[in-house]
Amino acid sequence: MKRSDRPEAPNALPDGVVSLADHEHRARLVLGDAVWAYVNGGAADEITLRANTQAWQGIELLPRVLRPLAGGHTRVNLLGRELAHPLLVAPMAYQQLAHPHGERATALAAAALGAGLVLSTQASALLEDVARCFLPDAGRGPLWFQLYLQHDRGFTRELVQRAEAAGFEALVLTVDAPVNGVRDRERRADFRLPAGVSAVNLAGLREPGRATPTAGHSAVFDHLMAHAPTWDDIAWLRSITHLPVLLKGVTHPLDARQALTCGAAGLIVSNHGGRTLDTVPATAVLLPRVVQAVAGDAPVLVDGGIRRGTDVLKAMALGASAVLVGRPVLHSLANAGAAGVAHVLRLLRDELEIAMALTGCRTLADAPGTLWPNANGS
Ligand SMILES: Cc1cc2nc3c(=O)[nH]c(=O)nc-3n(C[C@H](O)[C@H](O)[C@H](O)COP(=O)(O)O)c2cc1C
Repeated sequence: MKRSDRPEAPNALPDGVVSLADHEHRARLVLGDAVWAYVNGGAADEITLRANTQAWQGIELLPRVLRPLAGGHTRVNLLGRELAHPLLVAPMAYQQLAHPHGERATALAAAALGAGLVLSTQASALLEDVARCFLPDAGRGPLWFQLYLQHDRGFTRELVQRAEAAGFEALVLTVDAPVNGVRDRERRADFRLPAGVSAVNLAGLREPGRATPTAGHSAVFDHLMAHAPTWDDIAWLRSITHLPVLLKGVTHPLDARQALTCGAAGLIVSNHGGRTLDTVPATAVLLPRVVQAVAGDAPVLVDGGIRRGTDVLKAMALGASAVLVGRPVLHSLANAGAAGVAHVLRLLRDELEIAMALTGCRTLADAPGTLWPNANGS
């Protein structure tokens, strides 16, 4: 089959798709080779990419039986709000690569399913349009804006002000990607953004000036890292916004503590879905250590490799306050637009409830008791 690099606009669920893995297999048939490499690829040898899913699978659950579970629920509290369930859509760039309706379709589906939405700085839809799709739904979850600090701090400030004005409720500063990872799969497939798909919210941002390359010049240290954010920028960011600031991509317990000292309102344990530094441990392995370091002082969320309701239960058992889901959202978006994304979120909610019922959890506060001893690697 000849696959194009521009997606078609399917809006009906294909037959026989009953799991997130089914969505992935189906999306492989829909998306062209280059876009597939961008969406599903990871950094270098993709060791972290594989480890993320395998680590959740490797944690075992031990059911408790005959407990009274009537009136149970999946509700959680997050930054002072009660949510129907602990699922958020992870920030992912250029969603129009998967479907022409892109981020707007994702927003409609997430709002309808009561899931949170984190919109990427590199979204292919205007942040104001996405907010308009999401905010009117009475049962919606939280709406957060993922921020990459730009070399032009004035531009960054205006972006933050736009997000505030549009109704975003928190900023998620991604700190694990000051440079792109070694994306071999993308380079082999010669991935490039097709015409018509771009980071529209960054329109007008000028390229940083480049030093003239000389012998011994380092593109990473003399160019990219010259503009990369540091801990000092957290204080600056907090000084220009009244929104809570969460840090995404914190993996070291000492960084977790420093983030709280700098006033972070929450952390997202993430290795960017294995797309930045390869051979970082799986997030299921990192999460308990960060949770221990944070010691309840702030919410700790996690993403990477969440593909089943049992994975969500395990993350909550290891101390997560909520989880973010990445690639499955793009797979389902490619398969059926908003209906596809709603299906994936519904599947995860249903699977989580089934997992809770089968392990004897009335609420997610009971989740820690479901882990087979030593499941958290301690
Ligand atoms: C295609 C794609 C684009 C992404 N773009 C961003 C981004 O713009 N900002 C960001 O913080 N993370 C980005 N991520 C990382 C996700 O937010 C998330 O950390 C990761 O996908 C979670 O792993 P999972 O895909 O296994 O669920 C991206 C991930 C993918 C797959």
